[in-house]
Amino acid sequence: MTIISNDISKAIELLNKEDIVAIPTETVYGLAGNIYSEKAILKIFQVKMRPLFNPLIVHIHEIEQLAEIASEFPAEAQKLADALWPGSLTLILKKKPNIPNIITAGKDTVAVRIPNHPVTLSLLKQISFPLAAPSANPFNRISPTSSLHVEAYFKENISMILEGGACKNGIESTIIGFENNEAILYRQGAISKEEIESIIGKIKVKNKNETTPNAPGMLAKHYAPKTKTYLVNDVEKCIAKFENKSIGVLRFKDSMNTSSIEYLAILSESGDLKEAAANLYNTLHKLDSLNLDVIVAERVPDIGLGAAINDRLERATN
Ligand code: TXA
Ligand code: MG
Repeated sequence: MTIISNDISKAIELLNKEDIVAIPTETVYGLAGNIYSEKAILKIFQVKMRPLFNPLIVHIHEIEQLAEIASEFPAEAQKLADALWPGSLTLILKKKPNIPNIITAGKDTVAVRIPNHPVTLSLLKQISFPLAAPSANPFNRISPTSSLHVEAYFKENISMILEGGACKNGIESTIIGFENNEAILYRQGAISKEEIESIIGKIKVKNKNETTPNAPGMLAKHYAPKTKTYLVNDVEKCIAKFENKSIGVLRFKDSMNTSSIEYLAILSESGDLKEAAANLYNTLHKLDSLNLDVIVAERVPDIGLGAAINDRLERATN
């Protein structure tokens, strides 16, 4: 039986016993364990069915903790951290030797962020170790943005889900690393490229479909519903091809004639990309639960958070 509760002291008790706990963040729920406990970290990989070559993000509550984790802190990283932490930014930094190899998949770098969620910040302040936390979904499946999503995935396999409500941003953190001192965007996420560039100037994007994720786990197929999913510019034209099929449609803001479809989901009627991002995974979970034959998703405008939404929708097509 999984406990679903906002009892932080219970979560601390479990983490201190080298168990793992699902934790809320402002992006998505994470599956968390003590970075120094091999037992806890192996359990995370096992429960998620995640391959060991995919490294984890280390979660801390204050910048000073970086001294224990990273051996270098480039000036641009400092600027981004000052502007955006706590928040949905993950930095890839040169690691300190004490960071276990299983966390970093043997790399000489480590991913780290300060999440912006009051429950998890309070938890992190009360324990003596950072938490490794990948998104709390089985490998390649849709990320969870509520405790119910986590429960549906891992009911029997985890002791506790720390309740923190619906995730405000609803899409994973933006990942920035450094190559020869140049900042590189590895994963589009809850902080738009434009916002990053307003802090450190133009950056290069390297997030294309890697098969061995040298850069972040940007596998081509990821975040995928079980239902066959298509991503298109013109929904009406696409559904015309699926006669006699039960179709779910995911649109950005516009309504449509629903006579030939089973279910219509609209991400943001007002056309707000932040709201659309916050609703994205919940909507995909819903559509995937309806036993449809196909999901037809509409590409959103490719600006600001729209780029991250389109990225996830592309990886959801299967
Ligand atoms: O918003 C988030 O970042 C959420 C919440 C829970 O914090 N976490 C999350 O973790 O999305 P995960 O494991 O699903 O995605 C982490 C990504 C993976 O694609 C992984 O490959 C990449 O970060 N990553 C971790 N360490 C890395 C490293 N040293 N170098 C390159 N990529 C790394
Ligand atoms: Mg993930």
